[in-house]
Amino acid sequence: MVTGHSRGLGEAIAAELLARGIAVLGLSRSGNPALAAQHPDLLREVSLDLGDAAALEVWLAGDELAHAFPECETVLLINNAGTLQPMGPLQRQAPDAVARAVVLNVATPLALSAAFVRATPHVIDRRILHISSGAGRNAYPGWAVYCASKAALDHHARSVAADAVPGVKISSLAPGVIATAMQAEIRASDLEDFPMRERFEAMHREGALLAPDAVATRVVTFLLSGSFGREPVADLRG
Ligand SMILES: NC(=O)c1ccc[n+]([C@@H]2O[C@H](COP(=O)([O-])OP(=O)(O)OC[C@H]3O[C@@H](n4cnc5c(N)ncnc54)[C@H](OP(=O)(O)O)[C@@H]3O)[C@@H](O)[C@H]2O)c1
Repeated sequence: MVTGHSRGLGEAIAAELLARGIAVLGLSRSGNPALAAQHPDLLREVSLDLGDAAALEVWLAGDELAHAFPECETVLLINNAGTLQPMGPLQRQAPDAVARAVVLNVATPLALSAAFVRATPHVIDRRILHISSGAGRNAYPGWAVYCASKAALDHHARSVAADAVPGVKISSLAPGVIATAMQAEIRASDLEDFPMRERFEAMHREGALLAPDAVATRVVTFLLSGSFGREPVADLRG
């Protein structure tokens, strides 16, 4: 199960799983027609606004998740969908944008993790991966909501690991700086909202952004490795 499989890192992770013959349930608002055409038997898509807590609740109350993992020995949840908005200092953050970001970046991954474990009592190997960020570990001006949301994912993973639910492994992973729409959004941001913009413009100019496909290969290898879950908070950059 991959959230945000329509583009960026989530699309690349879904493509990597599908290429390995692993069935994917993709959740996003817009879907991924290209991947669906390539893998009609392996990819199932749900169109859902994961920033809308009520819509998620309705979906979780249905039976799709309960039937999503028939006869699986290993099940994977990748909480990838996320947003940088609202960027800017406190006085420029609209309350509805803060609420949507906290739902999408925090409440949804936490609720999906719980629902995923409830839906898979018969599976002995259950793995949850939060896509976190260096921003969860270092403070950046203008990114207070984003930084706080990623730090929440890190601490959720630590706490879930401490629960030691049989068969459940979890890790919150910072993937590095990746050439996706989110990076374009950073470069297009207002300097007043994000004073560190130049650093990201320079990385782009210097070709330092990572390719989504290459990161996805490393993410999936990490997720499927025998040591997955040993560290509840990890960084792909080593
Ligand atoms: N890019 C980086 O440098 C970088 C660095 C560190 C961490 N990350 C993290 O990596 C993850 C993926 O980022 P990305 O760079 O691939 O971002 P992206 O290119 O902006 O893609 C975001 C994905 O999330 C989905 N999404 C956004 N809002 C949604 C909503 N309300 N409901 C359902 N799905 C939603 C989008 O699908 P729809 O629009 O179709 O809904 C899209 O598939 C994020 O958690 C991000 O924080 C990225």
